[in-house]
Amino acid sequence: MFNWASTLTAVAMVLSIAAGAVASELPAGIETIGRPATDNELSAWDIDVRPDFLGLPPGSGDVWQGEEIWLEKCAACHGDFGDSNEVFAPIVLGNITDEDIETGRVAALQDPAVARTTLMKVATLSTLWDYIYRAMPWNAPKSLTPDEVYALLAYILNLGYIVDEDLVLSDANIDEVQARMPNRNGMRQDHGLWSLRGEPDVNGDTCETDCEVDLTVSSSLPDYAMNAHGNLAEQVRSVSPYAGLWTAPEEAAQVAAPPVAAAPETLLGQSGCTGCHQMAGQLVGPGFDAIRARYAGAENAAYLEQKIVNGGAGVWGGIPMPPMPGLDSDTLQSIVTWLTAATDHSGEES
Ligand code: HEC
Ligand code: HEC
Repeated sequence: MFNWASTLTAVAMVLSIAAGAVASELPAGIETIGRPATDNELSAWDIDVRPDFLGLPPGSGDVWQGEEIWLEKCAACHGDFGDSNEVFAPIVLGNITDEDIETGRVAALQDPAVARTTLMKVATLSTLWDYIYRAMPWNAPKSLTPDEVYALLAYILNLGYIVDEDLVLSDANIDEVQARMPNRNGMRQDHGLWSLRGEPDVNGDTCETDCEVDLTVSSSLPDYAMNAHGNLAEQVRSVSPYAGLWTAPEEAAQVAAPPVAAAPETLLGQSGCTGCHQMAGQLVGPGFDAIRARYAGAENAAYLEQKIVNGGAGVWGGIPMPPMPGLDSDTLQSIVTWLTAATDHSGEES
């Protein structure tokens, strides 16, 4: 029977053998396994383009051809002008100056508030060429011809005002364009991961006992991305660091809970509560924002606990809340702790 795992293993072995040795030098015992890869097979895999453009296939394309291909194959996800931040950070969005192109260092990167784009960051044009050729369009990777990639790159670079609109980008002039890449001097190489000195790749003193650690790890969503996919607080997202974060614009200030305390809100979804309760506003039952505002304070925990387990009606209106006896006690505890943790009526935690 056909078996992918063994087929792939055989292919991988053939490739690694062919790369290092010719058939006649195969170590004893494996001569009968597979066969050396052919030149064609090897070149099908050997597609990387290096910073000095070694490996770059010959070809050319201009800005106008690039625009046509872009609109057909890329714009749906990256925006007509490469400015969409819906699927990924924008590829082009201004923030590059003539001076940057001169110095090879994008000044706006010093400002943490400025949105990052691909063109602001990438140091080597080969990376862009290579990435697009291998990986894009996302839904059909490796479907572009070299000429199409040249054209697309010409279009992207023109959007960023790095090249003129009459440029015909090709393997013959790509190094001239590389010399204009706005952040070409922005790649650090003096960090440990790059260094081959054999030294540790971290700096600082070693501390193994009684160490004073003063470290805050945090992350945040930029404003423009806040509500890109709806209000996270109303969705069941168990694996996101932003699970439970209130992202709806009109109440963006009312952060439902900081990321660490987000788990209870996931539990609410898993425990079947969100069918009747949403975070804000009445559904079948009252919104959790109203509940939290009303029952802030640990002294309310016991009451809420029994109400959730036994159900009941009359506090918020005539519709009864059904008994929820199936909750395990850890889950119930987390939910009740969260429900009573608000310090004021905005729903924020202490
Ligand atoms: C179906 C959606 C989709 C389409 C169509 C698409 N892309 Fe992408 N593109 C993505 C996603 C998603 C990423 C991020 C992928 C990742 O990081 O693994 C990305 C990343 C990129 C990046 C790298 C950005 C960076 O800074 O790392 C470039 C450049 C790019 N795409 C160019 C193109 C080009 C050129 C086309 C058209 C030929 C195209 N894309 C079509 C979804 C798409
Ligand atoms: C079938 C709909 C429904 C489901 C499912 C549901 N609730 Fe309720 N819930 C209600 C209604 C209706 C009320 C208002 C009851 C009242 O007025 O006393 C309510 C009230 C509450 C209150 C406020 C109680 C009070 O006395 O003020 C809390 C807390 C609560 N629910 C938590 C939960 C939790 C936690 C879950 C999931 C384990 C859950 N609910 C599942 C309908 C529901």
